[in-house]
Amino acid sequence: MCQNALDYFFKCINCGFKFESEKVEYYCPKCNDLLEIAYDIEELKNFVSKDTFEKYPLSVWRYKELLPIKDFSKIVSLGEGGTTLHECKNLREIFNIKSLLVKNEGENPTGSFKDRGMTVAISKALENKVKIVACASTGNTSASLAAYAAKANIKSIILIPEGKVALGKMVQAIIHGAKIIQINGNFDDALNSVKKLVEYYPQICLLNSINPFRIEGQKTLAMEICSQLNYNVPDAVILPVGNAGNISAVWKGFNEFKELGLIKNVPRMIGIQAEKAAPLAKAFKEGKNEISIVNNPETIATAIKIGAPASWKKALKAVRNSNGLLEVVSDDEIIEAQKLLARKEGIFVEPASAASIAGLKKLLENGQLDKYENIVCITTGHGLKDPDVVLKTCIEPLIKVSPTIEELKKVLGGSLN
Ligand code: F0G
Repeated sequence: MCQNALDYFFKCINCGFKFESEKVEYYCPKCNDLLEIAYDIEELKNFVSKDTFEKYPLSVWRYKELLPIKDFSKIVSLGEGGTTLHECKNLREIFNIKSLLVKNEGENPTGSFKDRGMTVAISKALENKVKIVACASTGNTSASLAAYAAKANIKSIILIPEGKVALGKMVQAIIHGAKIIQINGNFDDALNSVKKLVEYYPQICLLNSINPFRIEGQKTLAMEICSQLNYNVPDAVILPVGNAGNISAVWKGFNEFKELGLIKNVPRMIGIQAEKAAPLAKAFKEGKNEISIVNNPETIATAIKIGAPASWKKALKAVRNSNGLLEVVSDDEIIEAQKLLARKEGIFVEPASAASIAGLKKLLENGQLDKYENIVCITTGHGLKDPDVVLKTCIEPLIKVSPTIEELKKVLGGSLN
């Protein structure tokens, strides 16, 4: 009763080689490219339908038949998924568009979409009796990994880049008891280091998004959007891109639902990068099939300050196959979008998340998006993750007065009429 009846296998994204393995695999044994998890879709059709999912509340684990966990008693959950799809009427009017929905992933247990992937990957690690997990992170993956590893009673090691990891993310890793190691270098150096670490100590399970189990959890983001729209798919989905796991995962989710016959079409995938950390957008705009690594990526949106995205090949495929696109936004555009979403919709997101709103604005202005399209923007992390950015970019001098009505009237002046 506790067992998943359905099988999965690993499939190489490059040469298509398929193989089965219970433990985690990161690279194709034939060509060394990245792997994804695949299922026998025809077989799955006998087990799942809209009703299979709709009888449970929205959450990652309502899609358990489509997840690679065998033993459901090993599931490690903090209540991930089931995030709101906000109707953003005020922004819709400001942008003069037909529809704007924001799927706010900051509502997840540790405040970012990473929890969707982490619940699956940690559950799988527990199933495989793993004792130590590790990741490199700009902050959110490590916060999520630390929390889920704590719950699973697994030791966690996180490698962070030098410079500042956003305050909220850093304190999460600390309070959940992760072993934190700062690497002399940026995120890309930290990712290379953690890959070396798990190669040297194969007993450590790597939980970056090259772990295909993580992608499986994250694909449920797309499935929830379908459910929330009554299985009517949006025309376009816009999301920030850093290491490029999430855009690949969301695309996989929509595709699996289409192959299962649950939706008729798939949306255009639109990825937004920070302009000085944009190897994917550059390759896309230049029509190239390879990315050129950005050696010193820079942006205020530290979550996506990445110059060598691990899942670049999957992301380019997602964008091209969906007739989507990749665009860049500046730090000023990100800050403006963060304020706009907070002040017009009451949704407080971290800078990387605001890139999707900044991207929407830019694409409407330069005519790459049509105002009649049904658009879903994904905001990926909560604003409290990075309070320093707000203090740096939005602060006005504090007004201090004596506790009298006269003093209050004086400072408020005519502004209440
Ligand atoms: N938004 C937020 C808030 C993120 O934390 C990340 C990635 C992204 C967007 C980009 O997602 O990498 O799948 O393209 N953060 C990683 C981390 C890199 O370590 O927390 P992606």
